[in-house]
Amino acid sequence: MEIIQNGIKLHSTLDNFFDEVRINSGTIHHSKQEKSKIDYLDWSFVPKYEDDAYVVKRDWRKLSEKEINSLKAIANRNYYNTVYVGDISDELKEQFDALKFKDCLRPEDVRTCMQKDHDMTLKLSNTMQNYLNDFANEKPFHFHFIGGNLPNIDMVAADTNMLPPNHTEEDKKCMGIHNDGAEPKMVHATYKSGNRFTINLGNETRYFLYVNLSLTQAYNMLKKKFGVTTKQVDLYNISKLFFKHFPDYPVIKIPQKPYQYYIAATDHCFHDGSTYGMTTLDVLMIYFGKFQY
Ligand SMILES: [Fe+2]
Repeated sequence: MEIIQNGIKLHSTLDNFFDEVRINSGTIHHSKQEKSKIDYLDWSFVPKYEDDAYVVKRDWRKLSEKEINSLKAIANRNYYNTVYVGDISDELKEQFDALKFKDCLRPEDVRTCMQKDHDMTLKLSNTMQNYLNDFANEKPFHFHFIGGNLPNIDMVAADTNMLPPNHTEEDKKCMGIHNDGAEPKMVHATYKSGNRFTINLGNETRYFLYVNLSLTQAYNMLKKKFGVTTKQVDLYNISKLFFKHFPDYPVIKIPQKPYQYYIAATDHCFHDGSTYGMTTLDVLMIYFGKFQY
């Protein structure tokens, strides 16, 4: 097993937070591990994966004291060198409750919840704006997404841009552990593109999975091992190259309970969301900015 390097840190003021964080022995090509199956409402299928998708191994264990100390963010936290986890405010919880997101059964129900109660949605949007100001570093931020994922998917991210607008859940192809598309498109500049504030609006704990290395660190590891040049490694192939050549590098699994948020620079590190083990709809809301605390 590889030892986690000093990389992207983890910060939370939640009680006993690190007791529930898990670490594993790395990643594996999706074809080599049995996939979780979706059996929910009228859906019954095994999700498809992209040809070169890598997924996380399931040998999760608690972190050692040493691992906790190397992950814990102590000083000099910023928006791209640390992942943050916390509870949202009671005021926000009440407003999300009022919109009844927890009653959503299907991904398309989530938008309907907001459209049904225009006044409450407007109120929520203002409360979010005020709330996120405290995390925003006086930098601009904006709403990005609200929606849902089906329960019991190992790795939820799928690129739907190539699919027709009327695509079904079965049509989606999971991309496996990945980095998001950044602007500008250079490995060494991905820290510039900010981070995301993601809130769990569902009924159950979902998971945020991440590798505690910046893309620059991952690039340097590849370069050291193979002497690759910037021409051979780019934002599109770096995750495949990394997981092919460093399958033993551990992944960190963070539980994100209902009404908790995580903040992470997802252009700048390998990550995914997971609904593995869940039985109800995963509902989430995402803002983009340069958040930290
Ligand atoms: Fe992503």
